[in-house]
Amino acid sequence: MQQKYFVIDFDSTFTQVEALDVLGEISLDGGEREEALQQIKDITDLGMAGKISFRESLEKRIDLLKAEKKHLPELVAQLRNKVSSSFRRNKEFFTTYKDQIFIISNGFKDFITPIVTEYGIKEDHVFANTFIFDETGKIAGFDKENVLSSNNGKVEMLKTLNLDGDVYVIGDGYTDYEIKAAGLANKFYAFTENVERDNVLENADHITPSLDEFLYLNKMNTAISYPKNRINVLLLENVHAEAFKLLKEEGYNVEVHPAGMDEAELCERIKDVSILGIRSKTNVTAKVLENANRLIAVGAFCIGTNQIDLDACLRKGVAVFNAPFSNTRSVVELAIAEIIMLIRNLPDKSKSMHEGKWDKSAKNSFEIRGKKLGIIGYGNIGTQLSVLAESMGMDVYYYDIIEKLALGNATKCKSLEELLEKADIISLHVDGRKQNTNIIGHHQFDMMKKGVIFLNLSRGQVVDIEVLKSNIEKGKIIGAGIDVFPEEPKSNDEEFLSALRGLPNVILTPHIGGSTEEAQVNIANFVPNRIMEYINTGSTTNSVNFPNLQLPILENAHRLIHIHHNMPGILAKINNILAKHNINISGQYLKTNETIGYVITDIDKKYFKELITELKSIEHTIKFRVLY
Ligand code: NAI
Repeated sequence: MQQKYFVIDFDSTFTQVEALDVLGEISLDGGEREEALQQIKDITDLGMAGKISFRESLEKRIDLLKAEKKHLPELVAQLRNKVSSSFRRNKEFFTTYKDQIFIISNGFKDFITPIVTEYGIKEDHVFANTFIFDETGKIAGFDKENVLSSNNGKVEMLKTLNLDGDVYVIGDGYTDYEIKAAGLANKFYAFTENVERDNVLENADHITPSLDEFLYLNKMNTAISYPKNRINVLLLENVHAEAFKLLKEEGYNVEVHPAGMDEAELCERIKDVSILGIRSKTNVTAKVLENANRLIAVGAFCIGTNQIDLDACLRKGVAVFNAPFSNTRSVVELAIAEIIMLIRNLPDKSKSMHEGKWDKSAKNSFEIRGKKLGIIGYGNIGTQLSVLAESMGMDVYYYDIIEKLALGNATKCKSLEELLEKADIISLHVDGRKQNTNIIGHHQFDMMKKGVIFLNLSRGQVVDIEVLKSNIEKGKIIGAGIDVFPEEPKSNDEEFLSALRGLPNVILTPHIGGSTEEAQVNIANFVPNRIMEYINTGSTTNSVNFPNLQLPILENAHRLIHIHHNMPGILAKINNILAKHNINISGQYLKTNETIGYVITDIDKKYFKELITELKSIEHTIKFRVLY
């Protein structure tokens, strides 16, 4: 068999960036910085596109850079963090094939060598330019004798290497293609993880969105089974850009669609999708799932999951993840703010001022310090509110239907009644289960102290609104903050109708307790991370529908992931097959719910194809996959 050689470009291939652009960001300052940086980028692009000669582009850029030797360590440090993700995760490739890998670049050894040698690439396999410094340490130019500083340099360099075997070139620029065009390489792989250039794509033998794809095509992947760029992700409903970034960085093929999709459209589009991201407007129905044969996971970039047929997902072996506490802090901050505003009577004071009334007095204005805050529902939000309120000097009491650990100095109440009788301020943070409808009605308001402040930022149906209204009118409640309502407008165009409109010292907000920029970013981070964790390790922590399993990190083993209908005897069948093949089990984890069983088996490295086929064909198997 012919020896294989791999010629790899550096800028925008090995690293995500063009190093000279980064050097400019470090070396340039003052008023002309932005302009010079843009000029450098433009010249780089012109050169990469083959529109000006390479030598010319290099000279112009070096001149604009005004860089010095002392800037190089910072450049190397920044580039180290900018190595392409797929290069980072396939480090093993570089060490295994170090004798066959060459870096050929029109960049500079001064920053390339320190980066690539950390990946096991041999120093004498790095071919690139070298800077020339003047006596003050300024970069004055480059070694013009080096063929890589002139046009067609990569071709000339490769000729001198005289490689005897098949040569594969991986790069993002036209000069990389030129090696193939000159007849010196068997194949040119256009690397598009960081940039895509039309004239390069047109000429490529293969377009490789990541190194995973290259290794997969050439049957060289040691660490991964399936290139991540072949995993299609569809993000609907304007999911925050941070989610796109994370999933893209992971190497997935991510497509974004700004609006939601109706059932018919989604039935069609879902066919080749492995990960679906939605918000509240897209319904993932049983019919959609019938068409979703490649679907592994659904990410709900919101809190609620009513729009998803969770059971149908389960039967199909599709794990669903949401973001249950990404906006917890936002709700808590609003609650704190409202408590202070209401106890100072600010809604009315502010209204009067707008009407031209100056009413300076301390009457009925209080501090929150030392007041008793009663929290109903001590979950994610209730507990967080407990901590913050206490740090502001409040005396916290809470009531929950299940046993909950008291945080800080909070006091648990044995009953709702106990809490209602004690509290000066009452804040509701229960969940929206059916049984919680109107849990605060006549009887509960009657039990409260006179002059209490009342907050509901949980769910609209938990409070009887008419009774709340009459209690505000008769002065039992002296201030209320209400963010959620039994009936809420479906869009911003609809009028908000409520018995609570126009009441004194009442803050009404349009269900925005959790609506902050930070919460959006948190959601966009949380959901993709759970999905990636599930795909990479099998862990189902925080899945809404799957049995939750937190798994150890896989080391030197294969992990077999078997999802099946929950029937007796399946674990035994799996283990019988493993025993028959003399496979050593290094760890096994099982969790079931009413519908499915989820079995993870870690085995040592050796296994056979037949084993996989047999495990897949166990009756009642829904999905099976192997992690390497
Ligand atoms: P969670 O599920 O972590 O906590 C709810 C707690 O309430 C649980 O500990 C549960 O045992 C308890 N509980 C349920 N029924 C109860 C009852 N009748 N009496 C006493 N305790 C009861 O939920 P999390 O994340 O703290 O959210 C709380 C509420 O806030 C939910 O209804 C949620 O929908 C709502 N929410 C509102 C937002 C807004 O924009 N206003 C944003 C985020 C959440």
